[in-house]
Amino acid sequence: MSRFPVTLTRHILEQQAAHPGAKGDFSLLMAHIGLVGKMITSSLRRAGLINILGLSGETNVQGEAVKKLDVLANETFIKVFQTNGLVCALASEEEEKALVLPEAWTQAKYMLLFDPLDGSSNTDVNMPLGTIFSILRHHDPRQSPQETDLIRRGREQVAAGYLLYGSSTMLVYTTGQGVHGFTLDPQIGEYVLSHESIKMPSRGSIYAVNEGNYHKWPAGMRRYIDQLKVKDKSKGRPYTGRYSGCLVADVHRVLLSGGIYLYPAEVERPEGKLRLLYEASPLAMVVEQAGGLASTGTERILDLEPLTLHQRVPLLIGSREDVLEAEAAVKATA
Ligand code: AHG
Ligand code: MN
Ligand code: MN
Repeated sequence: MSRFPVTLTRHILEQQAAHPGAKGDFSLLMAHIGLVGKMITSSLRRAGLINILGLSGETNVQGEAVKKLDVLANETFIKVFQTNGLVCALASEEEEKALVLPEAWTQAKYMLLFDPLDGSSNTDVNMPLGTIFSILRHHDPRQSPQETDLIRRGREQVAAGYLLYGSSTMLVYTTGQGVHGFTLDPQIGEYVLSHESIKMPSRGSIYAVNEGNYHKWPAGMRRYIDQLKVKDKSKGRPYTGRYSGCLVADVHRVLLSGGIYLYPAEVERPEGKLRLLYEASPLAMVVEQAGGLASTGTERILDLEPLTLHQRVPLLIGSREDVLEAEAAVKATA
C-alpha cells in the first residue's frame, strides 16, 4: 500500500521542527514560492488559448526582447511577495532595480532574487520553461535593506531552487541540507515529494551546450567539446548531446542523470550569457548539494564576489568529474 504522500507543506514543517527557534517564516516563504509556481503553471497551460504568447514589445535591462509570459511571470512573483510580509527586498532578472519593501523590512528577514521565466525562447513552441529562485537573509533588522545587500556571494544563500514547467511541474530546492524534488499533482493541487535527497552521479554521458556558438569559443573549450565525441569506453564516450534552450530543464536532466551543462565564455563575450545572481548561483547551490560542481571555468561559482545585480558569468555545471575535466580544458588556454 502506498504511504500518505509527503506534501511540500508537510516536508517544510518537518524540516522546521528540526530548528526549534524557527518562527515559520521560511516555511511560509517556500509555500508562497509553491503558490507562484502553481499560478505560472496555470498561465502556461492555457497560454496558447488566451493570446499571451509572443513578444511584449519591450526590451529588458539585459537588452533582450521580453515575452508576454516573462512579464506575466514577473508580475505574478511581485504580486505575491510585495504584500505577504515575508521578504523585505526583491530582485528580478526582468527589473532594472531591486525592489525594497519599506513596510516589510522591520519584521521580514528574507530577501528573494528570481528569474521569473527561464528559457523564454521556448514559450511559443510548447517546450519546457522554468523559474529560478535564490533566498538571502537580511542581517540587520534595524536598517532597511539596500540594493547592495542583495549583491552577495552564492555561498551566502539560505536556500535556492527552481520550478520546472515540463510534462509535469516540479519544484526542486535546497536549504543546504540536501536537495529535494516535488512533483505537482494536478488532481489534488499539491506538490508531492517524488525525489528525496537527490544525489547526482560523479560522471555522466550527456552534454548540454549551444553548439551553434562553437566558433565563438576559445580553443580549449572547442577541444573539450570535440573530445566528448571521441570513443572512450572507460569514460562513457561518445557523449549524447541534449539541449532544450531552457537552462532549468537542461540542468534538471543533468541533476538526475549526470553529465554537464555549459554556457561558456566566448572570445568576444568573456563574461558569458547567464546571470550570476538569478541563474548560476542558485543552480550552483542545488547542484553542489547533490554532489556536483559549478564553475566559471576558473573559479567556483559560489565563491564569486558579485559587483552588480545583473552581472553575467560563464557557467560549467554538472557532475563532479565532468566539470573538473571541462575546467582543466578552460585553464589550459586561460
Ligand atoms: P532567459 O529566458 O531567462 O533569458 O534565459 C535563457 C537562458 C537559458 O535558459 C538557456 O539555457 C540559454 O539562455 C539559452 O541561450 P541560447 O539561446 O543562446 O542557447
Ligand atoms: Mn534564465
Ligand atoms: Mn528569464
